[in-house]
Amino acid sequence: MIKSAKLKQRPLPMPGKLPHKYTISGLRKGRARVTVVTGAGIDAEAGLPTFRGDQGFYEDEEATYLASADALKAEPSRVWHWYLKRFVSYHDTHPAHSHFALAELEAELGEKFKGVITQNISGLHRKAGSQKVFEIHGCIQEMRNLQTGERQTLPKSWVESPPVDEELISWRPNVCFFGESYDEFPLPEAEEACKSCDIMLVIGTSGIVPTPILLSEMAQLSGAVVVNINPNPGEVDEVSDMSFRGTTAEYFQ
Ligand code: OAD
Repeated sequence: MIKSAKLKQRPLPMPGKLPHKYTISGLRKGRARVTVVTGAGIDAEAGLPTFRGDQGFYEDEEATYLASADALKAEPSRVWHWYLKRFVSYHDTHPAHSHFALAELEAELGEKFKGVITQNISGLHRKAGSQKVFEIHGCIQEMRNLQTGERQTLPKSWVESPPVDEELISWRPNVCFFGESYDEFPLPEAEEACKSCDIMLVIGTSGIVPTPILLSEMAQLSGAVVVNINPNPGEVDEVSDMSFRGTTAEYFQ
């Protein structure tokens, strides 16, 4: 675990105009190695709700419960049926301009692009064409067998006609539930991407789940500059070198 004390001396980030090398055109033309961390704010631009805030998904207490390891253990069939409904809404969602812009940035930078680390389970970065994606909370399009650990794409036919419970609950959605560790997810690869970049963009995350904070600190300790892109102030500001106080769409325009 990284200690934040060492970083507390940093000046507070400067909301407002970013120096050119941290803008999208600066990143395209520059030589910096770039890593990107994304949260629900980027998916909001594709029409999906964020988790927190007035319209947040977790305003619904039932959703918070059903996304937990306790619920999966106690009521696996109920959890599955709720996930199948979520799967449909994610399946039918198209990536936003910002997702495509990140895929283009990766294509332009080649090896200098170290990856998109996403907390989102929507699969929208891959849909938009991003290749180097670390889905640290898993992906709703995937399921995992509880006995063998085998991973498979969730069959769309299950939405209309789920299998009998015995078959259904021998699988689980391959996403990280509340109360679970990151053991099944590519956190080590994500950390490597943080340690090997010069600039890290942190996009649309509140930092209330603190993984982006820890990844930002890790990047800074390795010498990177962390740029926070978020229309609202939040926890990530405290571990960023600067903030772009606007939406992702505004950053990528
Ligand atoms: P939150 O819902 O906590 O935060 C969303 C953030 O997006 C807020 O800081 C908003 O200000 C910001 N935002 C909203 N619209 C934006 C836009 N257009 N451009 C940029 N930013 C925008 O979501 P996360 O921080 O992603 O975990 O939540 C982290 C984790 O908490 C989720 O991955 C989920 C949840 O528990 C699991 O499901 C395991």
